[in-house]
Amino acid sequence: MRITMIGTGYVGLVSGVCFSEFGFDVTCVDKDQAKIAALQRGDVPIYEPGLSELMVKNAGRLNFTTDLPGAVENADVIFIAVGTPTRRGDGEADLSYVYAAAREVGEAMRSGSVVVIKSTVVVGTCREVRRIIEETAPDKEFSIASNPEFLREGAAIEDFLRPDRVVVGVEDERGEQILKALYRPLNLRQTPIVFTSLENAEITKYAANAFLAMKISFINEIADLCETVGGNVQDIARGIGLDNRIGPKFLHPGPGYGGSCFPKDTRALAATARRLGSPIRLVETTIAVNEERIRAIPDWVIAAHGGSVEGKTIAVLGIAFKPNTDDIREAPSLTAIPALQAAGATIRAHDPQAAEAAKPLLPGVTWCASPYAAAEGADGLVIMTEWNEYRALNLATLSRTMRGDVLIDLRNIYPPEEVAPHAFNYHSVGRKP
Ligand code: UGA
Repeated sequence: MRITMIGTGYVGLVSGVCFSEFGFDVTCVDKDQAKIAALQRGDVPIYEPGLSELMVKNAGRLNFTTDLPGAVENADVIFIAVGTPTRRGDGEADLSYVYAAAREVGEAMRSGSVVVIKSTVVVGTCREVRRIIEETAPDKEFSIASNPEFLREGAAIEDFLRPDRVVVGVEDERGEQILKALYRPLNLRQTPIVFTSLENAEITKYAANAFLAMKISFINEIADLCETVGGNVQDIARGIGLDNRIGPKFLHPGPGYGGSCFPKDTRALAATARRLGSPIRLVETTIAVNEERIRAIPDWVIAAHGGSVEGKTIAVLGIAFKPNTDDIREAPSLTAIPALQAAGATIRAHDPQAAEAAKPLLPGVTWCASPYAAAEGADGLVIMTEWNEYRALNLATLSRTMRGDVLIDLRNIYPPEEVAPHAFNYHSVGRKP
């Protein structure tokens, strides 16, 4: 079976490479010539652990091209995995790239193909893709399927090859059979595959991301309560998370969720549901709670520095929105750093992977080669992202080389008792004695 993957963003590239690992021939298509040229040379445009190794291993089954018609006309299955960014103005998903790809696919594909939407799309999009292809190619016969992706950046390969479940929306037997065949390698692991309607699959993707975002905002608000009354959110997260009905994951408090998915997808779900007359108020509130939280970080940091950061130097560790990625989209650091600079602080920053991407967006920041270099002479140190290399910093060295004593751990990676001997003015999230 020959697969064509349209779009070599996170989802498209990881999915394409992982399908080649399953043993299929995969052609990945993108309009971005520089990106395709890099991929043809074996250069991976994103930092994702394990991705380049899989690309090398499966090089014989992987092709990269900008020639969409050529790639589509020879394919049995065509995945559309292009971006669905937030539309300016109303917060809904911009589906124009999906619809443009559908038109090009319709023109080039042969009769009997299966077109699978992998992009995150709002309910009704797959039906619209069917209409567009029928309009473009009235005499071709085809099936549409919806196969949303649940992979996390930084753990994408693992999530694709060993998922909790696969969700597939289909409209006919051919779609179901083809998708079953594509995911047959997961039978060995007895991975559940949920076959359902196109609409259900579309909504499942948004519901999953919105639910996880809601869990994070919930624990963040519980953390706020802990700070007010003097509690420990870690104990509470453990206390509720051990209930199987709740589960321990996505109960880590922090600076608020960021990234290319949760902010965009919660906005799109809320805006679409409201337009359709069925507002999802829990999601609307989740968005508001998260946005307020991110906006409040600078004030929080300023308060920890005694009410002013004027003339102070602050070291920021971690710019990416989460560890193991160089992705800085909607990273809380991008809001916090300029606000601290505006309040008079000088920022020294470190990130193991994201510094290059962040430099143009954060003028005036001094980029440092290590967390220790960033901390040298600083009045305060803020851990924004829980990269592994920040988990076992030598606190004695930091305390000796910093000018001030403020240590702000926005990811609660240090147990307070470990910090206590080092005379830091230590702040973490939702843990007040
Ligand atoms: C998320 C989902 O987890 C994936 O299942 C989904 O496929 C993906 O979006 C997508 O729609 O493409 P991702 O954005 O890569 O994946 O990263 P997450 O690990 O979910 O983290 C998202 C944000 O939530 C980060 O800013 C992270 O720091 C924050 N977070 C996560 C917390 O603050 N607390 C937690 O307990 C978990």
